[in-house]
Amino acid sequence: MKSLKLSVFILSTLFSTGMSAQSAPQLRADNIDEVINAMTTEEKAQMLVGGGNSGFVGSGAMLGHQKRLVAGAAGITVAIPRLGIPSTVLTDGPAGVHIDPTREGTNQTFYATGFPIGTCLASTWNTELVEQVGRCIGNETLEYGCDVVLGPGMNLHRSPLCGRNFEYYSEDPIVTGIIGTAMVKGIQSQGVGVSAKHFAVNSQESDRTRVNERLSQRALRELYLRGFEKMVRNSHPWTLMASYNRINGVYAQNNKELLTTILRDEWGFDGIVMTDWIGIRPDLPTWTEPDAGDELLMPGYGKQAEEIVQAVKEGKLSEEVLNREVKRVLEYIVKTPKFHGYQFSNKPDLKSHAEVTRQSSTEGMVLLKNSISDKGVATLPLTKMKKVALFGVNSYDFLSGGLGSGCVNVPYVVDMKQGLKNVGVETTQQLTDIYESYIAYAKLKLKADKNPEMWFLDQGQPKLPEIEISRRCAEASCREADAAIITIGRQAGEGMDRDIKTEFNLNEDEKSMIDRVSSVYHQAGKPVVVIINSGSVMETASWRDAVDAILVAWQPGEEGGNSVADVLTGKVNPSGHLTMTWPISAYDVPSTTNFPQTPDYYNFTDKFAGGYMKGVNYSNHEEDIYVGYRYFDTFGKTVAYPFGYGLSYTTFKFSNLKASAKGDKVNVSVTVTNTGKTAGKQVAQIYVSAPKGNIEKPKRELKGFAKTRSLKPGESQTLNITLDRRDLTSFDEANSQWLGNAGDYAIEVGDNVENIASSVNVKLAEYTEKVHNVMKPDAKLNLLRQ
Ligand code: BGC
Repeated sequence: MKSLKLSVFILSTLFSTGMSAQSAPQLRADNIDEVINAMTTEEKAQMLVGGGNSGFVGSGAMLGHQKRLVAGAAGITVAIPRLGIPSTVLTDGPAGVHIDPTREGTNQTFYATGFPIGTCLASTWNTELVEQVGRCIGNETLEYGCDVVLGPGMNLHRSPLCGRNFEYYSEDPIVTGIIGTAMVKGIQSQGVGVSAKHFAVNSQESDRTRVNERLSQRALRELYLRGFEKMVRNSHPWTLMASYNRINGVYAQNNKELLTTILRDEWGFDGIVMTDWIGIRPDLPTWTEPDAGDELLMPGYGKQAEEIVQAVKEGKLSEEVLNREVKRVLEYIVKTPKFHGYQFSNKPDLKSHAEVTRQSSTEGMVLLKNSISDKGVATLPLTKMKKVALFGVNSYDFLSGGLGSGCVNVPYVVDMKQGLKNVGVETTQQLTDIYESYIAYAKLKLKADKNPEMWFLDQGQPKLPEIEISRRCAEASCREADAAIITIGRQAGEGMDRDIKTEFNLNEDEKSMIDRVSSVYHQAGKPVVVIINSGSVMETASWRDAVDAILVAWQPGEEGGNSVADVLTGKVNPSGHLTMTWPISAYDVPSTTNFPQTPDYYNFTDKFAGGYMKGVNYSNHEEDIYVGYRYFDTFGKTVAYPFGYGLSYTTFKFSNLKASAKGDKVNVSVTVTNTGKTAGKQVAQIYVSAPKGNIEKPKRELKGFAKTRSLKPGESQTLNITLDRRDLTSFDEANSQWLGNAGDYAIEVGDNVENIASSVNVKLAEYTEKVHNVMKPDAKLNLLRQ
């Protein structure tokens, strides 16, 4: 998919027109139709096909007449100089700008800031902060000469095993929609565009370019599309990226019902859709993509443009549709910095952006456990700590972000050792030496053994195997250290899902490290803290009792070690809350039975020869709308940590919950008081429990949230949260409508889905809104019901 292809077609198109630049109209925002009239069919077709992905592999020079663009950017649109149409540059990705950090012929570097990954950002529940991160990413996109950043990632966490969850926000569509809106607004405020992705139902990586995601219209509309819908309606993204997979039998990228009926006719989307980075597919005629409303085929192969021209000649693709698509692309182009001739600096303010990444990752970290001693003292913050023993390779090889297109070439990564040192905490020398020499060796070995198919290993930090920690080693460190800190790391990236045994669960080395270190340190009366350095959910139930505190640091970007140190030492009071359920076992998640298990997938050799296997070539969404907490809460199943969960170094009280209906809105207000002894922020999560109607509903669903400012002990803040009446509806398949029954709705406030503090009722009239009866399942599904 990422191979270098030059297009002979582009050359022949551009040099065969024979029209002089003088006689041709030059593109302006107000003469798009005139420019289209002046275009040949070949030129029109070329506007719909990207200029190849040589930018991605760093060769830069696209064609004789096109200047070297941005090395390492994912792709470009094609220029037509005679019509004044510039080439625009598209770059990954959700956690920061992904370009090559060095270039031939210059000593200048082009590093980009590594911001926290999607799950970490969403776990802040702080839309202002997310918007600020968006502004920084947008600014780096602009200043590095790019026009669109390929993000945010907005797919729902259907399963904790999806390899790309780290790029996405949540198992909940409202969280996804609200956080996604903030990110898009932030990025686009800088005059560059986004490509929100992957539209839609890109729930797994195994067989991602072919898998058929089969699901009910209700689950599709209510869960998988709702986040995108909120974002599209509220932030007007310049572009969306269609996903690789099929949905109910039809590829997302030529799915007219998705890209035209729903996206444009219903939601009013006025940008362009591009494909994900894939070539020509034997079972997907190229012309059907523009016909369906997919304007840009990326990264672009000349043959695709030839095929479009041929389809016009044969009458399969009408001239009218071709013009419509070209018009949308030109409407995009006239918005871009490239079109406006923006003189980019190649020098974004990385220093100030590093401050933003440190603050946002600190706020996204989630404290899962903080034991209180018999004397009433909490393990964290470790205020008196002078020296600690750091266990786990990722303490020293901290994972700032994930792999693949979502990775960022960062100028540095602050690891735990450095982060602690920066706040005056030393690490035990001998243990540190052991780990540092092992890591240097393991990295060399990995390079030597490199599997050529794992192209993305060059794009970020892979996870190194753990060292077996002996009891003697733990004892030696314990003589010097005030506490033990164990980092458990997990890496993930595109194209691969997560294995239950080795990635969701702890492996044997990790288990024995936790056991031995805890037993030694506890005997000496010293605490053990675990830092989870993973983009996704992990198993915690089997080992959490052995340790005193657990902090989920996610993959928090380049300032990671500093952010963790800020939380461990109490400089910052943690205020992150989980945006997804942490189950006891991966098998508790209902989608697991229909999800590819990694070893099976790799052993299934028949998969590209037309063989069919559940979870690989197709995945039936039998859990239907019961994704994440909608399942666990409704069916009364115990989890390790529920959706919305997160501890603080202080305590809070919710009071004065009020709710009133006004038009299509429900206005909610609630007072939050800091009842503890430390300043801190709290998230008010608003859940709604609908009256019994003719449609089965989850027990409660999150419909809005707000976060306080930092409240001093004793201080209160009243938060106002507006819920959309439409968000309180369910999708009624029988009548193809959004339906909200009339009756009493319980409006609840809590700090996680299992900890509801109070509830008030609000009476609402019936709400209905007819939509199109489209995207029906292509097979009978055995759906989970209460
Ligand atoms: C990924 C996209 C990415 C694109 C360009 C694809 O493989 O799925 O998310 O934006 O490559 O790098």
